[in-house]
Amino acid sequence: MERIAVAGPSITAKEIDYVTDAVTNAWYGNANVYHERFEKAFADYLGMEYTMTLPSCTSGIHLALLALGVGPGDEVIVPDATWIASAAPITYVGATPVFADIDERTWCLSAESFEACITPATKAVIPVALYGNMPDMDAIREVASRHRIPIVEDAAEAIGSEYKGRRAGSFGDASVFSFHGSKTLTTGEGGMLVTNDAKLFARTQFLRDHGRKPGDKMFFNHEVAYKYKMSSMQAALGLAQLERIEELLDHKRQTFKWYEEELKGVDGITLNYEAPETKPVYWMVTVVVDPKFNLSKERLMEEMSERNIDCRPFFHPLSSIPAYRDTEQALLARARNQVSYRISPYGLNLPSALNMTEEKVRVVCATLRKTLLGGVNAARGVDTP
Ligand SMILES: Cc1ncc(COP(=O)(O)O)c(C=O)c1O
Repeated sequence: MERIAVAGPSITAKEIDYVTDAVTNAWYGNANVYHERFEKAFADYLGMEYTMTLPSCTSGIHLALLALGVGPGDEVIVPDATWIASAAPITYVGATPVFADIDERTWCLSAESFEACITPATKAVIPVALYGNMPDMDAIREVASRHRIPIVEDAAEAIGSEYKGRRAGSFGDASVFSFHGSKTLTTGEGGMLVTNDAKLFARTQFLRDHGRKPGDKMFFNHEVAYKYKMSSMQAALGLAQLERIEELLDHKRQTFKWYEEELKGVDGITLNYEAPETKPVYWMVTVVVDPKFNLSKERLMEEMSERNIDCRPFFHPLSSIPAYRDTEQALLARARNQVSYRISPYGLNLPSALNMTEEKVRVVCATLRKTLLGGVNAARGVDTP
């Protein structure tokens, strides 16, 4: 059997047609047609007022923090267990990332830990819908509003997930998505910023185009800013994908069901948690294994890889990786964030690409079960047949 990929897109004739049309026709007076169509369709999908196509989700977080006026001397709270892109823009603007712990079940920002991390210097919080799991947004929003802290919602991994009837990406003062090639909806590389705040949106529009006023034809720059734009070809790809969104989400939901079914009854493992009143769509089906198996995520990945199956490690706590581990905040986080440090070493993203089939899920699960048995037997000093 061919190697089983951990992530990857679904591309059909529709995507190829739209991109072909963009590269052929989206020039001259039509240069922005696909951006406008993609942004409008995305705003309608989310029920949000303003949307901005971007070259990445990282640039969206960067713009949101800049537009909120976050800078040196400020602190921004972010979950410890997430991709570095959630935190790096805090560093770009000269502020300090404060790494809060995650919730035991959702693996997303814990509202209690968020509140415990607030200081007079806190200027924003970035909850992350990890792997498509939804954070407890009511609890997070309650803390944020009591302390008047703006929310930048990192929905990079969570298109289609719902919390109490609202879609991921509709909770932040600004929210961001990633359309990286591994994501459910892809533009190759790309992202989207969404908001209902006209003033914040105007500021991000200005900052993303070298400090020019929108529509400026005189190439007249008021500030030194950034160049964060998506190409027409990417916007066309995004539009085609968005027109297929229910099909893409259904495939993700189905993939999770196959895993659930195949791993039913396996003792000592935990899959993504569906909190009450949420309808998550898991970008990555993720398994956390009991330490009794004596198998770290690195060992698990190796074992799976030897059998032609690509997995990914649960994100390492940011406070543990070289990029941040020597900071004062990382030191505090390592002492505080027991859940992140307990879960991350034993978490594995299982293949969740949009080309997964029931048969491939069966192969992955059979291999995982065998690996877990091998781990238990090795711990007991018994040979695995
Ligand atoms: C949680 C999270 N935030 C932000 C990003 C950044 O997205 P991008 O690669 O589009 O900048 C990612 C990308 O994988 C992510 O997983």
